[in-house]
Amino acid sequence: MQKQVRVSGKSKENMLLLKHLKGDVQGKELVIEDSIVNERWRQVLKENTDIENDLFNYQKNREISKVPFMPVDRLITNDEVDDILTALTSVLPTGKFTSGSYLEKFEDVLSTYLHKRYVIATSSGTDAIMIGLLALGLNRGDEVIMPANSFSATENAVLAVGGVPVYADITPQTFCLDPNKIEEAITPYTKFILPVHLYGKHSEMKQIRQIANRYKLKVIEDACQGIGLTDLGKYADITTLSFNPYKNFGVCGKAGAIATDNEELAKKCIQFSYHGFEVNVKNKKVINFGFNSKMDNLQAAIGLERIKHLSLNNFKRLFLADRYITQLAELQNKGLIELPELSEDHVWHLFPIKVKAEDRTDIMTKLNEDYGVQTDIYYPVLSHMQNTPLVQDKYTKLQLVHTEKAHSQVLHLPLYPSFTLEEQDRVMEGLFSVIKQKAGV
Ligand SMILES: Cc1ncc(COP(=O)(O)O)c(C=O)c1O
Repeated sequence: MQKQVRVSGKSKENMLLLKHLKGDVQGKELVIEDSIVNERWRQVLKENTDIENDLFNYQKNREISKVPFMPVDRLITNDEVDDILTALTSVLPTGKFTSGSYLEKFEDVLSTYLHKRYVIATSSGTDAIMIGLLALGLNRGDEVIMPANSFSATENAVLAVGGVPVYADITPQTFCLDPNKIEEAITPYTKFILPVHLYGKHSEMKQIRQIANRYKLKVIEDACQGIGLTDLGKYADITTLSFNPYKNFGVCGKAGAIATDNEELAKKCIQFSYHGFEVNVKNKKVINFGFNSKMDNLQAAIGLERIKHLSLNNFKRLFLADRYITQLAELQNKGLIELPELSEDHVWHLFPIKVKAEDRTDIMTKLNEDYGVQTDIYYPVLSHMQNTPLVQDKYTKLQLVHTEKAHSQVLHLPLYPSFTLEEQDRVMEGLFSVIKQKAGV
């Protein structure tokens, strides 16, 4: 009997699938087990799929003069627009824009996909983190250990509900919280660890869970950039997700979700997400307060269509990341840049490389001016370096050696599902030339 390659749509299986389709693993049968797979993916997925041609329609040497970093008008494809318009045609006449059956269906679909018993869809990832912290029992002044290189939403969610961010250093290769730096940040006020799966890389959750258990802390993970990771949620009390349009899976507006296996926590999340009302009983409060933070039924109807594209899109992201890593290896081998590692616990929300800090601005300018290639520093200011009264009051003496160094070197290259291989070739051509020129080689 032929050995099988499972197509589950998750990061670990995607790595095997990539190896299989590249011909590195022979003689295996593809078995599709993905709960959200779309028709195009199913049609394309064959033993002999040629990724460059069948998925990317690659025409080598096609002239490219401009490569945008993250073009908003390419975040959604025409296929998707048609499906969404059909969905809207069925929702709009019902008038059920906020609550309704699409929302329940969406939560079910996510729950199956994530292998989590409870999913509570929220109006954003930020709200998901706020609600998750409150449901886990955050009281004013409780400390939350977290990285300082995330999007401001992570710290803002903590601050908004009265928590105190305590920034711990990262592992520079992964940009994620370093488990070995957590214990030194623990004080008698610590109550939570909040790892962020930054750029789509899974944090070291097993180790983080062990530390949390040792010190009786709760773990709430910011997986806003991490949908599609294998075993997402396995080691956290609460998993939070974002579905804003820039994410690996987004709706046509703002949305997010909380996932957990704990029934009591799920109940609390439902209450905090809708004015503190008893579950399914409007206007009867059972906790002191709650937010107006449920995802809209209308966005859920859109989400049910768009989520069908997630697995194919995540596979495309992996393929693009692998292509960057393979083809830019020469620059890394010469010590001129540092590349992220291709690993099975990554969904490539962004593609970060490191360059010499003192050359970074010049590299970005030259890539743009000479090659039309836009690159970006996605979060340009670290949390403990923002110019706010809070930072001046509390964090000016804080030093996070690895976070600060990695942050001074990081450069994000374009990577998104509608990115073409011709555009990627242009980015790499520009990078080779500009980096070698800088190094004088
Ligand atoms: C790491 C991270 N955390 C939290 C958020 C907040 O999500 P949202 O924009 O849905 O509020 C985002 C996305 O914007 C994010 O990238």
